[in-house]
Amino acid sequence: MTTMRAAVLTAPKRFELRDVPLPEIGPEDVLVKVTRTGICGTDIHIFNGHYAADRLPLVPGHEFCGTIAERGANVRHLDIGTRVVVDINIGCGACFWCRRNEVLNCAEVTQVGIGRDGAFADYVAVPARLAIPVTADIADDVLVLTEPVACVVRAARKAGVTFGQSVVIFGAGPIGNLHVQMMRLVGAAPIIVADLSAERCRMALEAGADAAVSDPAELKETVRRMTDGRGADLVIESVGSKKLYEQAFDLTRRGGHVAFFGITPPGETLPVDILRTVLEEGSLKGSVAGMGEDMHDALTLLSHGRFRIGDFTKASYPLERIQQAFETLADRPQDLKTQIAVAA
Ligand SMILES: NC(=O)c1ccc[n+]([C@@H]2O[C@H](COP(=O)([O-])OP(=O)(O)OC[C@H]3O[C@@H](n4cnc5c(N)ncnc54)[C@H](O)[C@@H]3O)[C@@H](O)[C@H]2O)c1
Ligand SMILES: [Zn+2]
Ligand SMILES: [Zn+2]
Repeated sequence: MTTMRAAVLTAPKRFELRDVPLPEIGPEDVLVKVTRTGICGTDIHIFNGHYAADRLPLVPGHEFCGTIAERGANVRHLDIGTRVVVDINIGCGACFWCRRNEVLNCAEVTQVGIGRDGAFADYVAVPARLAIPVTADIADDVLVLTEPVACVVRAARKAGVTFGQSVVIFGAGPIGNLHVQMMRLVGAAPIIVADLSAERCRMALEAGADAAVSDPAELKETVRRMTDGRGADLVIESVGSKKLYEQAFDLTRRGGHVAFFGITPPGETLPVDILRTVLEEGSLKGSVAGMGEDMHDALTLLSHGRFRIGDFTKASYPLERIQQAFETLADRPQDLKTQIAVAA
């Protein structure tokens, strides 16, 4: 076999299912036969032409699992047929930032499915060191969530949140829902969610939030009431709105922290009250993606059933219908996540 199916985004909003040559692998790489690939918010931005438009034609897809189909000459630790998930963040592996697991700061960084061809295809080539073997008996439609879970694992780690801390989460989208579950796992309390959608609020409560507020006018009072008048230890912005980032500072307690997570257009800035931040010992903490240990921890947590993964993440389309899967996303708000079943 020398060709495979790939969903190539040739222009904004236009996937073409093509027969393309199998990706070539170098001595340190593996070829992964893809079973499932999740659709992420970033994929939606790429589809709409709002992100990485200069990189088209591109095969997107970076939340995936599969099995090793071929391995490079120097690869020892993975066998053909081994099930894997893949850390998509490819750095040089040797610089200051790569060694600190801050791979996105590496001057050479690229990401599978964003900066190079990804997993809306039968096969994808990746560096073997980034393929993580999966030994647990875990279904593909759960395993495929490893990368998004790694993002919230990293955010929790970077924010240094621990048990007994109060948390406000802006946004109960697919990622906000995982933040809620992650905050449950670390023992945060109370967990208060804000989302304009009543349906998303309902899902956040199901995921473990103590309160979910859809009316913005009620949020501040709810936070005040549930934190003995102090404000939250931590506010996580998981929407990507400058206005909400501003509000986040207003909802934190004195000496509280704001997790910078939601992605805004480039160049957005915020006025930060310098003196207040110094005197209160407040902080803001950015986090991006999930890499290295975040991926391992996410896989461990999913393997041991620590995340409740309901039907809301399991809407599934075959690769041939990827165009339809993307075009109907807005009509399916109940589907927090849609997956492409690449292999039957
Ligand atoms: N930093 C990272 O590592 C990382 C990783 C993944 C995603 N993200 C970003 O995190 C954010 C969340 O991702 P997602 O996939 O869940 O996004 P999404 O767009 O699917 O969901 C956002 C949610 O925010 C809600 N919302 C919109 N405006 C609101 C408002 N004014 N107040 C309250 N809620 C509001 C929407 O109803 C929706 O439920 C996005 O900005 C995404 O780009 C960051
Ligand atoms: Zn993603
Ligand atoms: Zn590097």
